[in-house]
Amino acid sequence: MTRIAVFPGSFDPMTNAHLDVATRASGLFDRLVVGVLNNPKKRPLFDIDERVALIRRCVADLGDHVGVEAFDGLTVDFARAHGAGFIVRGLRAVSDFEAELQMALTNRKLAPEVDTTFLMTALEYGYVSSSLAKEVAQFGGDVSAMLPAPVAQALAERLSNGARV
Ligand code: PNS
Repeated sequence: MTRIAVFPGSFDPMTNAHLDVATRASGLFDRLVVGVLNNPKKRPLFDIDERVALIRRCVADLGDHVGVEAFDGLTVDFARAHGAGFIVRGLRAVSDFEAELQMALTNRKLAPEVDTTFLMTALEYGYVSSSLAKEVAQFGGDVSAMLPAPVAQALAERLSNGARV
């Protein structure tokens, strides 16, 4: 049996917490597709193509069984399109749990054949979020522990061009 999972998220931008989850999920599944949500209602700092390209650089060493794609619409439709039986999500702290439970139950209602699996983020990345990393970088703080190197570099360039988070 081929075990296929999708790992959906906004990834604006990918953090070390995301990468840690992707790395561990890549060891659990035969195929893992990182799904980058293209949400027209949000105004991300990095557009969809930039986010996909950055994640591809971050996961390049994980193997050919790991892919990165943009998607819009429902996560369960993205999962079905890939024949995935699993959705992967990371959990950092108890505060993540309530929203994640609601999403997992909604997704199960929509697609009972797709199970959500949770991986606990590594302890050292439990505090890391995309939004906080952007804020810290905007005010000149060191984000090297929070973001993969290509992401930290892209963020520094974006902010030096006058972008505001
Ligand atoms: O990185 P995020 O912002 O926590 O990811 C949230 C995401 C993209 C997984 C969630 O918003 C999502 O699944 N959006 C797609 C729309 C959808 O399927 N909604 C119903 C299930 S919650």
